[in-house]
Amino acid sequence: MMHFAESFDEAGHEAHEPHIRMQQQIESAFADHRYRSVGEGSTGHVRIISKKDSGGETPWVVKTRIAEPPSHATTKRTFKTEWQMHQQAYTLITDAAEKAPGQFTRIPKPIGTLESATSHQSILEYIEGETLFERALRFLLLRYAASEEDEQNIATGNREELVNLAVSENYIDIFSSETQNDIRFALRQPSRTIPALTEEHFEEIVAAGGKRNNEIPLLSHKQHRQLERTIALLHANTISHADFHPSNIMMQKDGTMVIIDFGLSRKVTTSTHKTCREDLEYLQTYKKLSL
Ligand SMILES: Nc1ncnc2c1ncn2[C@@H]1O[C@H](COP(=O)(O)OP(=O)(O)O)[C@@H](O)[C@H]1O
Ligand SMILES: [Mg+2]
Repeated sequence: MMHFAESFDEAGHEAHEPHIRMQQQIESAFADHRYRSVGEGSTGHVRIISKKDSGGETPWVVKTRIAEPPSHATTKRTFKTEWQMHQQAYTLITDAAEKAPGQFTRIPKPIGTLESATSHQSILEYIEGETLFERALRFLLLRYAASEEDEQNIATGNREELVNLAVSENYIDIFSSETQNDIRFALRQPSRTIPALTEEHFEEIVAAGGKRNNEIPLLSHKQHRQLERTIALLHANTISHADFHPSNIMMQKDGTMVIIDFGLSRKVTTSTHKTCREDLEYLQTYKKLSL
């Protein structure tokens, strides 16, 4: 794994060559709009740049957080913690997976961080796959697909396209929440109205789409056990994920599970900490939905 100093200093050009190169690569890709956006929020954005621009083995995911004024130092502190937690989790799980292949999930490789006066960026290995949330939405939409063309669009659509499709076809309503950035859904069905859904509680989406779609489960028992073992090992090493919802779990085409987003992850004093219990509650939900 490449390691870079935590802070980037304009004056330290020679000492921080890799930083400069990395920063230039990212800046030029962003300036020329050579990126794909996977999330834009009030505190920052998540963008993907291609292998051509990263010059590495995989495309890069660039998670940018806009620094708050000094009086609101939390964003920056959280971001530094996110990077440290991600690195610790990566090392822990990668080592364990080497000794016991197939028993754990993957975690994207941390590539480096860039810090300036106005923003903080972390650069991660890009994972090709879908989040469990996207997968659930696909299941729901497939149930209503009217043609092969529909099915094709659903199979290949990204998160935004899936959400747009669901809205335009009148399967769900989207309404914004003043307190949260995340999209909230209300499912529409002819016979019954399902209360508002968030992606944090997507059981209803899965239920509406059927637990099983064309004999393919949302996740298998084996995949659930990988999630379970990975979370157990993190907890045993005093790390809680603390944000274990379906948009923070990815599945690759070959079935490999990947846990992402250590943005709320933290060091805990006991494995009965509230955030650990929340991780376990999510695991219960995933267990119910696995086949
Ligand atoms: N390493 C990655 N590879 C591929 N997609 C990713 C990766 N990291 C994040 N994403 C995508 O971007 C979305 C937002 O990233 P995430 O790390 O969860 O940020 P946030 O803190 O904004 O939730 C994820 O739900 C996922 O779709
Ligand atoms: Mg997330």
